[in-house]
Amino acid sequence: MRIAFSYPDPESGLWLDELRRQLPEAEIEDWTGHDTLGPGRSGRAEHAVAWAPPQAFIDLQPGLKTLFNVGAGVDALQRLTLPPGLSVVRLDDAGMAVQMAEYVCHYLLRHVRAFARFEVQQQVGRWYQGPTPVRGEHPVGIMGMGVLGRHVAQAVLHFGFPVNGWSRSPHPMDGVTSFHGLDQLDHFLAASRVLVCLLPLTDDTRDLLDARRLSRLMPGGYLINVARGALVVDEDLLQTIDRGHLAGAALDVFRTEPLPPEHPFWRHPAIRVTPHVSARTLRLESMAQIAGKIRALQRGEAVTGLVDRRRGY
Ligand code: NAP
Ligand code: GLV
Repeated sequence: MRIAFSYPDPESGLWLDELRRQLPEAEIEDWTGHDTLGPGRSGRAEHAVAWAPPQAFIDLQPGLKTLFNVGAGVDALQRLTLPPGLSVVRLDDAGMAVQMAEYVCHYLLRHVRAFARFEVQQQVGRWYQGPTPVRGEHPVGIMGMGVLGRHVAQAVLHFGFPVNGWSRSPHPMDGVTSFHGLDQLDHFLAASRVLVCLLPLTDDTRDLLDARRLSRLMPGGYLINVARGALVVDEDLLQTIDRGHLAGAALDVFRTEPLPPEHPFWRHPAIRVTPHVSARTLRLESMAQIAGKIRALQRGEAVTGLVDRRRGY
């Protein structure tokens, strides 16, 4: 079995070694940093393991049947022309769900329990408790109840917050008030004070969180965006915070990454910025998952994580 590999990362060699360790029976061609045929690259692979590969990576391998995306989101593939019959399989959790839950709970609790205020108070030696937070007054709305969103919902429920979930199709879950479809989006937003974005970036979700929708959230709301930057209209988020409707935001993802130094998000006192780290892609877990799925396909079995290319996720 031949596999083409392309992973644009300073440690791509370690990822390749891990895939080779997991699949000793495979012949794995390294395409990282190359977009031509050449030594060690025959263009005869049937499976590809890649993150955001160049168009030539696809074009030079006419026999590709499956592209394993080394990530959960497949939006970086939207700029490519893929053969109609190519199956795309994305990562299914692979150690990301628990990290997402940690990140979301961290910023949720930091906001609701006013931990940032206590840090500021310590700097000036001020002893002040402030109002007692009431969990029931901070319903958490999770947009995207997929592999990651459902795990985050469980974690937030454990802390005793009311949880609302919004997805394309109905996804009933114990303890969660479920909403689905565009028709129910305004009701979902109006019932939530903290909004967690875990949607894929598609033609249907780009710019979804604009001024009108952000203003539907309960006053004093807080946004945690851990999905993709282009789901939120940057200027609208800034305006909604500056006019006091939202208390702030924790942002891990941006329209342009790295976030340009001049971007106002960096310096806004109510915005926390992290560099796309809410759920890191884990080498061992992801290569093991992909290797397991390649073996399953070789045996003629179905695998999970198949992307619906028409829907875009
Ligand atoms: P997933 O399992 O495919 O779940 C996506 C969820 O979004 C599903 O519940 C889906 O609804 C819902 N959805 C999609 N389009 C919708 C629409 N137009 N209207 C309403 N709901 C819609 O994806 P996942 O594995 O949970 O990952 C989610 C996203 O997280 C990824 O696409 C990626 O962008 C992001 N991510 C970020 C990081 C990071 O480090 N920041 C790491 C990993 C992933 P249905 O269930 O009804 O289809
Ligand atoms: C990371 O952002 C991913 O989509 O896996």
